[in-house]
Amino acid sequence: MNITIGFYGETKSKTDLLVVASFEGEKHPPKALQAVDPEAFHVAESAIQKKRFGGKEGEQFASYDGAIKGANELLLVGLGKKDKWSGEKFRKRVAGILSYGKSQNAKSIRILAETFVSGPVKLEETAELIPETLDRADYRFDKYLSKKKDEPKREVESVELLYSKKAQKNSLEKLLDHARVVAEAVNFTRNLINEPANVMPPHELARCAREVARQGKIRCQILGPNEIKKNKMGGIIAVSQGSHEPAQLIVLEYGTAYKKRGTICIVGKGVTFDTGGISIKPSRDMEKMKYDMSGAAAVLGIFKALSRLKLPIHLVGIAPCVENMPGGGAQRPGDIIKCYNGKSVEVINTDAEGRLILADALAYCERFKPKAIIDLATLTGACAVTFADKAIGLLGTDPVLLEKIRKAGEVTNERCWELPLWDEYFEIIKGHHSDIMNAGSGYGGTITAAMFLKEFVPIKSWAHLDIAGTAWVDSDKPYNARGATGVGVRLLLELFRNWK
Ligand code: BES
Ligand code: MN
Ligand code: ZN
Repeated sequence: MNITIGFYGETKSKTDLLVVASFEGEKHPPKALQAVDPEAFHVAESAIQKKRFGGKEGEQFASYDGAIKGANELLLVGLGKKDKWSGEKFRKRVAGILSYGKSQNAKSIRILAETFVSGPVKLEETAELIPETLDRADYRFDKYLSKKKDEPKREVESVELLYSKKAQKNSLEKLLDHARVVAEAVNFTRNLINEPANVMPPHELARCAREVARQGKIRCQILGPNEIKKNKMGGIIAVSQGSHEPAQLIVLEYGTAYKKRGTICIVGKGVTFDTGGISIKPSRDMEKMKYDMSGAAAVLGIFKALSRLKLPIHLVGIAPCVENMPGGGAQRPGDIIKCYNGKSVEVINTDAEGRLILADALAYCERFKPKAIIDLATLTGACAVTFADKAIGLLGTDPVLLEKIRKAGEVTNERCWELPLWDEYFEIIKGHHSDIMNAGSGYGGTITAAMFLKEFVPIKSWAHLDIAGTAWVDSDKPYNARGATGVGVRLLLELFRNWK
């Protein structure tokens, strides 16, 4: 899809679909339409007067009136009540426009972007939100289908966003470029996750990390099984030993020139498949456990975007990658292991594997002397039970960092909700024959998992994002086809964009 910025009075060709938005109860179509296409304005005006269109949320009115000069078809999109308007409603409308365009086999769409502006949705945001949402909504993971779903392919080839003030051209185009880099990173992450575990084992994820590094100005180091052993990363060793797939620890580094501003570490859980190990999972839904590397995939996506966005930060990305299998060499419940920072762990449940590999990765951050550490992990089923697919579980030790993340979550609608990390919760995982146990009673599962991680975090400022509920959707959503969502990429890129 080619997305461009254009201005009133400068449109050259006729478009297939001209899109204008209108709020509920407006007596007239937006004035912008008058300026762009007087005939279309006339058609819209009579649709409103004859009560064929009232601007209700999700309402659509289409006209093929031959009098319309600039377009083969006019689409009026209802935005609902003005005081209820929001960025998230805007995203849904954008997805609706794309699916309508495809249903009509439109090749070109022209959108009067300013007609979506009101209240919380500012003019600049339209140049970012529309392209970002179009790219995310357009994504399909259909590479393994021998016959694609919508054959012959219905593809919108070009979208033009129309604005009134040409003086804004440069700034709007910058926002458009930013949005497309972000959306591409999100879709890249979704691809990594949607790939099945036979195609995306740890060494393949590592290869993708090298590729990301090669394309940007990014350093990449991969620790294989031998280096992992040399470093005494007992958690990663224990989880991976039941699989034939060798463990990989991905380390990416961007922006060494900005070291003086302080280093941030992001850590992503990379379990390319989680059978549960000897504490094996029930077979129902187990196929979904290919998404247990969503944290690692988000880290790779973020690095893919970083150098193209030229963000002025020093970021280290760490992704411990393993496959959790119940092979002959697998760890057993009751095994006691020693992690990178020297703490001993009794493995009560081999299905609580994420925290074991993250323990080593978080402790390993110490060598980078970071100012902040943020980890992303599909860590607990309990988090999905608590929040469904509506919120990321947010836990951590630095209220200022948590608040920044929460705010970025509101902007991106990758919303985060905080859970407590009170000392009392540690009692549940305090060890008897070891320092800590990797699983407790089962109650407070998201919190006790985070309490476990806290034992391995080497600094004060840490945030943990449990994305178990949000990294995957079981059914098609307006701008997210069933499968991986790429959650975390937009959230953290938004956070880093405003980092101080
Ligand atoms: N990867 C799972 C968590 C998960 C479950 C993510 C469902 C997405 C959907 C994790 O490794 C796990 O199995 N956690 C256990 C921990 C328990 C054994 C303490 C869980 O949540 O049941
Ligand atoms: Mn597990
Ligand atoms: Zn897992």
